[in-house]
Amino acid sequence: MSISFAERTKRLGTETAFAVGAEAAQLASTGVKVFPFHLGDLNIPTPEHIAEASSRAIKDGKTGYCPTPGILPLREALAADISKSRNLDLTADNVSIQTGGKPVIGKFIMSLMNPGDEVLYPNPGYPIYESMINFNEGIGKPYGFIETATGFALDMDAIERQITPRTKLLIYNNYHNPTSAESDENEMEKLADICVKNDLYVLSDEAYFDMLYEGTGKSITRFPGLFERTVILYTFSKKFAMTGWRLGAAIGPKPIIDAISLFNVNDESCTNNFVQWAGLAAITGSLEPYKKMIGILRERRDAAVEMLNKMNGVSVSTPDSTFYLFPNVTKAMQNMGLSDVEEFRKFILYKTGVSFTTRDHFGTPLPGETQKYIRLAYSGINTPEIIEGLGKMKELLG
Ligand SMILES: Cc1ncc(COP(=O)(O)O)c(C=O)c1O
Repeated sequence: MSISFAERTKRLGTETAFAVGAEAAQLASTGVKVFPFHLGDLNIPTPEHIAEASSRAIKDGKTGYCPTPGILPLREALAADISKSRNLDLTADNVSIQTGGKPVIGKFIMSLMNPGDEVLYPNPGYPIYESMINFNEGIGKPYGFIETATGFALDMDAIERQITPRTKLLIYNNYHNPTSAESDENEMEKLADICVKNDLYVLSDEAYFDMLYEGTGKSITRFPGLFERTVILYTFSKKFAMTGWRLGAAIGPKPIIDAISLFNVNDESCTNNFVQWAGLAAITGSLEPYKKMIGILRERRDAAVEMLNKMNGVSVSTPDSTFYLFPNVTKAMQNMGLSDVEEFRKFILYKTGVSFTTRDHFGTPLPGETQKYIRLAYSGINTPEIIEGLGKMKELLG
């Protein structure tokens, strides 16, 4: 029997990067040593005090339903923590706990976007933005990034050029997956002005706000007129190595947060009770494991950047945030007579076992894009394997 699916299911996108993981696993099952740079996951365990708090909560009977927007102690602790790091004045009313950072994307869009509204979003970018815009019948307006001597900058012209009276939302991912782009003061202020001038609601995806090797995190919410139109996507996944726990939050003005919590009622009722107590231990506990993790990731980043820049036709600058590298491989591909970055990916994978994603896993390339990029995550691979794997790639590319 052929199943007649609802039309809307055809508009749902996916994370095609998962297909790369499956391909790498298949190759590994044949006995080949695979170097997993495709994974945006951490091979570093959740700190013990956080895991213990969860076990304790289960023993204490925190196993029933809990309030839809989250347990009050966690909402209060998060409000205090975010107020401090973003220079805001928040209360628990500004916080809706979620099953990870990802659900904030769809719930923000469903709360504020009508069919036919236009949404500016980054491309390359996290693929769920485009999926949720399309699913909810919005019109996606992708904006790209410009490679500079020190990394990547927002293509401000593409943002300004595409704003029309129908533009209602802007999605902004500072400390960006996949390019690690980080706005300087000027760029962020200019973007904030554009949002106020054009009356846009903003999703500030701050998944990597704390994954910094230099300086302190900066949020667009600190500019005048921004907090009242912005929802922060917050996640415990990266800072506390809790990707599989599924814990995050939407943080923003109370009316929007109430609308988002209404989706919680309709979807999951509440986020796991005992996982939220673990989150409380994370927010209020020692940051030593986090600092240690940043040290480990910094060492991996430096090793990977050094190895990549030794390769013929490959160049990458050292990003100050995230755990991704987005090297330009245009010349390396030209040297090999390749024009399709997917072919390049497969060639490297099968010749060396080095597994990574490419620019094309983060959205359809925009008109006029000529440069080719790959994305390497160093969050799930140890330094000796980084050196070994990228050494093999260097042997191949020269
Ligand atoms: C840019 C960005 N936003 C959101 C998320 C979702 O994070 P979570 O695992 O907390 O759902 C990710 C995950 O990798 C991400 O890269």
